Amino acid sequence: KILIVDFGSQVTQLIARRVREEGVYCEIVPFTKAAEAFSETKPKGVILSGGPESVTTEASPRTPQVVFDSGVPVFGICYGQQTMAAQLGGEVEGGHHAEFGRAEIEILADCPLFKGVWHVGEHYPVWMSHGDRVTKLPDGFTTVAISRNAPFAAVADESRSYYAVQFHPEVAHTPHGALLIRNFVRDIAGCTGDWTMGAYREEAIAKIRAQVGGERVICGLSGGVDSAVAAVLIHEAIGEQLTCVFVDHGLLRAGEAEEVVRLFRDHYNIPLVHVEAQDLFLGELEGVSDPEQKRKTIGRLFIDVFEAESKTIGGAAFLAQGTLYPDVIESVSFTGGPSVTIKSHHNVGGLPERMNMQLVEPLRELFKDEVRVLGKELGLPEAFVGRHPFPGPGLAIRCPGTITAEKLDALRKADAIYLEEIRKAGLYDTIWQAFAVILPVKTVGVMGDGRTYDHVCALRAVTSVDGMTADFYPFDMAFLGRVATRIINEVKGINRVTYDITSKPPGTIEWE
Ligand code: XMP
Repeated sequence: KILIVDFGSQVTQLIARRVREEGVYCEIVPFTKAAEAFSETKPKGVILSGGPESVTTEASPRTPQVVFDSGVPVFGICYGQQTMAAQLGGEVEGGHHAEFGRAEIEILADCPLFKGVWHVGEHYPVWMSHGDRVTKLPDGFTTVAISRNAPFAAVADESRSYYAVQFHPEVAHTPHGALLIRNFVRDIAGCTGDWTMGAYREEAIAKIRAQVGGERVICGLSGGVDSAVAAVLIHEAIGEQLTCVFVDHGLLRAGEAEEVVRLFRDHYNIPLVHVEAQDLFLGELEGVSDPEQKRKTIGRLFIDVFEAESKTIGGAAFLAQGTLYPDVIESVSFTGGPSVTIKSHHNVGGLPERMNMQLVEPLRELFKDEVRVLGKELGLPEAFVGRHPFPGPGLAIRCPGTITAEKLDALRKADAIYLEEIRKAGLYDTIWQAFAVILPVKTVGVMGDGRTYDHVCALRAVTSVDGMTADFYPFDMAFLGRVATRIINEVKGINRVTYDITSKPPGTIEWE
């Protein structure tokens, strides 16, 4: 297996993902726990992630010495390269020549890392994101690639199997970067590619059993794929110790509650408590327009409901959630991690501190598409697994400004029409996520002979692989025209439709 030492990069999990794609098992550990983890797991190779710190500052994180003493192959990325340089006798300088975004490297020498991918004398685009840079190599290292601002864009000490790059091979913006990671894990570290999602399932089940013991677990279902997959996985691990709770917070889409209840009770025969909490949620959200306050209010109420349910089943020590990696990383620093808060996803950062239950989050390391593979592995119906993601806070975050029953009603109808048309056009599976948003803005229109003054509806549809980055979907105009006409004609309260053509970044997928 491969051990990934996390120095807090926003994209550490992408390294893990690339390793998993090679069919190789890996674990991510924060640098603070890396020494222990290394001794325990005895990895065949170690990858050092990027990170926001500067090795030039005192007390900045380091790779545990045992990693270098052990003789295993090491691959340092960005900050990982810098700690390697600093720890092995080289020098790193605070950057006067920061590079962010696209850069070009030139390959100077053959290197096992580049085998079959990059060739000597050629130039290749890579993605950089660094302020500091290595200025003097440790003994034994040679430079195998340079870029304009990073004289040591890639370096190697083949005799010790140490490799380090200043750019990020794990991101999609470094074309063929994944192949460098493949070369490291397969050829250099010598791992075989026999790990599968079936193996993940077994490991996850063992971990859940170990964490939970004989205690009861309550699992919140949101109607989305993630919580459903988490619930089925946990049920497989601990059976009757699990109770699923589906909270109808009044912020669900048309027909959603029925669908989830049917899937769990009929298809899986997993006991399910269906809590009707519409009044509670909508009452507390009345007048709330700040997005973070909405998310936090909803997170808090979910916990109140779960705690109340937990009492009725005689006390649950654990709360299970379908938190995915992008939720973790975009929510933030509650882990003590360095990434900034973009949004408090309700199943992570939005949870109140006083919560009495511990969390069980078996999907925390996975990306959406991986969860879908796991869902299929667990026998969830294809149509359910293929559903577009739906956020825990539901329609609340698709209703900028204050939330009212009328707006939600119009939003639900517009959203249903939009999705119906997308399905009819055969586009549902091509699109990662599509939904309507109802804006607090009202505009003037004319219908028949009368003046209207109603809300604007924005349509959103994006393509994405993992939700971390996204592009708007290029519908043809006739399609958009058809949807707009139907929404305006069929939905009371909406008299104008717009299409959102923002990518992520700089936008996010949801509007709040
Ligand atoms: P953003 O809007 O951050 O969304 O680009 C990325 C993906 O995450 C979903 N999302 C959430 N999922 N709880 C969830 O379970 C949340 O609080 C939440 N907020 C956003 C969003 O729908 C998209 O798929």
